[in-house]
This record gives sequence, C-alpha cells and structure tokens, in this order.
Amino acid sequence: MRLSGKTAVITGGTRGLGRAIAERYLREGARVVCAARNPYDIKEVIDLDPDRCAYLPVDVTSDQSVDALMAETVDTFGGVDILVANAGVSRDGRVDRLALDDWRDMVSTNLTGVFLCTRAAVPYLERSDAGRIVTVSSSMATRVAVGAAGYCATKAAVEMFTRVSAIELAPRGILVNALAPGILDEGMGQQVTANDRIWSKYRTRLSLGRPGTGEEAADAAVFLAGPEASYVNGHVLEVNGGLLWS
Ligand SMILES: NC(=O)c1ccc[n+]([C@@H]2O[C@H](COP(=O)([O-])OP(=O)(O)OC[C@H]3O[C@@H](n4cnc5c(N)ncnc54)[C@H](OP(=O)(O)O)[C@@H]3O)[C@@H](O)[C@H]2O)c1
Repeated sequence: MRLSGKTAVITGGTRGLGRAIAERYLREGARVVCAARNPYDIKEVIDLDPDRCAYLPVDVTSDQSVDALMAETVDTFGGVDILVANAGVSRDGRVDRLALDDWRDMVSTNLTGVFLCTRAAVPYLERSDAGRIVTVSSSMATRVAVGAAGYCATKAAVEMFTRVSAIELAPRGILVNALAPGILDEGMGQQVTANDRIWSKYRTRLSLGRPGTGEEAADAAVFLAGPEASYVNGHVLEVNGGLLWS
C-alpha cells in the first residue's frame, strides 16, 4: 500500500498505459482520477472501488479544461498529491509528408498538455506532504525512429521539461520525474506488436525478446510516485526491456 491516502490524477487514464497505472495505483491504496476526453469502458475500473476512483473529462490541450480537472479533483477527493501526465498521441509521417494538423496534435497533447497539467497541479501539489509529478516520455525521446520525428521530438521536449521542472519545483516540495517506456503490448505499442512485419524488426532490438506489459510500466510509475523515490528528482526512468536501438 505504497500510495495509501494519496490522490492521483492520471491523464489518459482511461485506456492503455494510463488505465494500467490507474489499476495499479488503486491496488496501492490511492484515490485515482482517470481523466481523458472519453470514458471508454473505464467504469470497469471504477467499479473496483467507486469510493476511490472516478472518471473526470479533460482535454489536456485546453488550459480551462485542465484547470477545471484539478478543481474537480479537489472537490471529489479533497486534494491532489500525484499528477501522472500520461495523455499522449502518436502520428506517423516522414518530415516531408507529415500533416501540419498531425504535428500540432502531437505538440499540443504531448508537450503543451504536460505543461498545462503541471502548471495547474502545482498549487495543489505543494499543499501535499509528498507532491509528485510523473511525466510520461518514451524510449523514442532519445532514439531515431524513421517516420516519427514529431513524436520523438515532443518526447525529447518532455524529458527536458521534466528536468527543469524538477529543479524549479523541488523547493516547493514537489518531485518531478519521467517514465520512459519502450514498446508495450498495450495502447499505442500494439501498433508495433500487432503487425508481424514491423514487430519482427523491433523484436531483435529487445534484449528480452518481448514487449513490456502495462503492469511492468505501471510498477515503475508506482515507484516514482511512492515513498521509495523520495530522493529521486529530475530522473528519466526507462522501462524498455533492454532496448538496443541506435
Ligand atoms: N504503449 C506504448 O508502447 C508506449 C510506449 C512509450 C510511451 N508511451 C506513452 O504512454 C502514454 C500513453 O500511451 P498509450 O499507449 O496508453 O496510448 P493510448 O492507448 O492511445 O491512450 C492514450 C490516452 O490519452 C488520452 N488522450 C489523448 N489525447 C488527449 C487529450 N487531448 N486530452 C486528454 N486525454 C487525451 C486518450 O483518451 P481520449 O482520446 O479519450 O482523450 C487515452 O486515454 C503516451 O504518452 C505515450 O506516448 C506509450
């Protein structure tokens, strides 16, 4: 019960990795807000413990929507102790063909969304006795992936945003770290694992020879939000099964 008594806001908490983190945080005793534009089937998770889990709508690209999310979380659970800035999108396209709308989607969700959520959460997190922000990056922040310039660039920016925020917010009692998964058999990683041709290329680059599970990445998100990470700040924790990728 590492997160007992804590309230966590998880953006993109309705599907994929965010949902896996929500389920894991619930098992660790946290109160959890699963926030996204659509609820999908998140009721299944809420039904595990309706007193400790709620869905709240948010569009992380909108400052008003993000501000409202934090205020509604406080109304629902009394405060915010942990922000998991997980919502993200990936749009493929080589640089000479990538549509401007796709580029804007990635920048506004993956980067501006992390900034808006961080900014809105700080006033609440500093009232916590252990405020934590876990941003979600990717192994692709530091590796070249053809056709993914927009995604790689936004995740690289998230990592530097994380490092600067960590230094700025430490005096206010808030630790900021990034979780950088490799290829998960969950969420957008399934675009890789479900396609035999693409997966056969990537599998040889994974020293463990398999994708990670949402649960394995969620374990790291528990660590970064929990008491064992009390002296970890500005760190990027890769959870990628030993990814060999230049
Ligand atoms: N799965 C992997 O293999 C992998 C690997 C490395 C990093 N990651 C990172 O992990 C994070 C989650 O990815 P995933 O694979 O779980 O993706 P996913 O299954 O596509 O889920 C994305 C989540 O983000 C939400 N979202 C998207 N745009 C949003 C917006 N504007 N406002 C609020 N919520 C929004 C989605 O809900 P709505 O569309 O309803 O809003 C959904 O809940 C992302 O940051 C991704 O880059 C994933």
